[in-house]
Amino acid sequence: MSEKEDIGLAVIGCGVVGRIRAKFAREYPGIGWLGLCDINEDLGRRLAADAKADFFTTDFNELLARPEVNAVIIATDENHHGPPTLAAIERGHKHLFIEKPLATDARESKQVLDAIEAAGADAVIGYTQRFRRRFLAIKEKLTTGQIGEVTGVVTRAFMNRMVPIATVQRTNQRKTLTPMVVSGTHSLDMSMWLMEGKEPVSVYAGSNDKALSQYGTKDSTFGLFTMDDGTLFSMNISWALPVVWPGSVYGLEIGIVGTKGVIDIEDTHRDLVLASEVPQGAGYDPEGFDKGMDRHVDFLTSYPPGDIWQGQLWGPMREETKEWFGRVHMGVTTPHATARDGHRNLLLTMAMDLSAARGEVVRLPVDLDELVF
Ligand SMILES: NC(=O)c1ccc[n+]([C@@H]2O[C@H](COP(=O)([O-])OP(=O)(O)OC[C@H]3O[C@@H](n4cnc5c(N)ncnc54)[C@H](O)[C@@H]3O)[C@@H](O)[C@H]2O)c1
Repeated sequence: MSEKEDIGLAVIGCGVVGRIRAKFAREYPGIGWLGLCDINEDLGRRLAADAKADFFTTDFNELLARPEVNAVIIATDENHHGPPTLAAIERGHKHLFIEKPLATDARESKQVLDAIEAAGADAVIGYTQRFRRRFLAIKEKLTTGQIGEVTGVVTRAFMNRMVPIATVQRTNQRKTLTPMVVSGTHSLDMSMWLMEGKEPVSVYAGSNDKALSQYGTKDSTFGLFTMDDGTLFSMNISWALPVVWPGSVYGLEIGIVGTKGVIDIEDTHRDLVLASEVPQGAGYDPEGFDKGMDRHVDFLTSYPPGDIWQGQLWGPMREETKEWFGRVHMGVTTPHATARDGHRNLLLTMAMDLSAARGEVVRLPVDLDELVF
């Protein structure tokens, strides 16, 4: 697309995230046309009305064939990113925004990455936390060598079990909807981005599933990567914290040890606590989700996309989405994750699951055929 040509935006998937991004699209002056698609017609038409979309269909091929379209957001649920992405590339679309994970199948992820690279498309993946001021400040300090050479990274993600329950309930294909593939991928992406340039050479991980096996997923995966320069990266997630845990979605801690310094990140949201007789909501709350019990204490700001003020979402997903519009419209440089980053993240998260399943160290890179569970 030529510089400053109006964006004709297709949004495929009108659920929680598609809704947020489509509503931002209506506020961006460089977007001249907005088309939406969802297989759930009722939900999609509701968003079409709210976002004043120019077009709605239940068939993504019909949307992608519209002459106005020159940029595409794929916001379908985790198992369904591949077909609309491949169809967009086949149609010659060069500006793509794909929600994480790139795919939930390693071979499909590679197929999508190859198609993107062969077409020379600019595809970015929704690793929203890169857009937070604190992580950009840390990235800059690391890039300019303020703590010397990084030798160790310890990452701990704690999540409320409401997220996995809401996520896995929408599909029967739950085998690869593991804590690392679905949600740990955000913390892993952040850690790998902060360690940019280092390649993992092995991983050893363990998992358990006492609380969430009834939903077809695991509770926790804790692992240790060794990087090509000897750096140790400990990546740990539990997404089985009880519904009453005050963090409604995500709490993160990362410690980064360097030869000349250290950066210690506390991102658990325990600095903003609400306690009330009034029951609090679910944070991530897709259509039809019932959290099953009341919550009365809440760490505010733990919902990673942002927080609501007057019906609008404010926070990193706003910046991530609008900066992508700027990237497409005006060629602005942005910290979005690339499709290659997304593919790498999927393989590393799956390698942790593979190591946990085998109970042994997995050498990296791992053959894609081994990542079939
Ligand atoms: N970046 C973040 O912070 C963040 C936060 C939440 C979710 N996500 C990711 O965003 C994606 C969407 O999550 P969500 O919470 O919006 O899910 P959701 O279930 O609310 O919405 C997904 C929508 O896609 C539709 N859909 C599925 N297959 C389709 C197809 N072939 N054609 C058209 N529509 C189709 C479904 O009907 C549904 O309405 C997931 O990959 C999720 O992991 C990212």
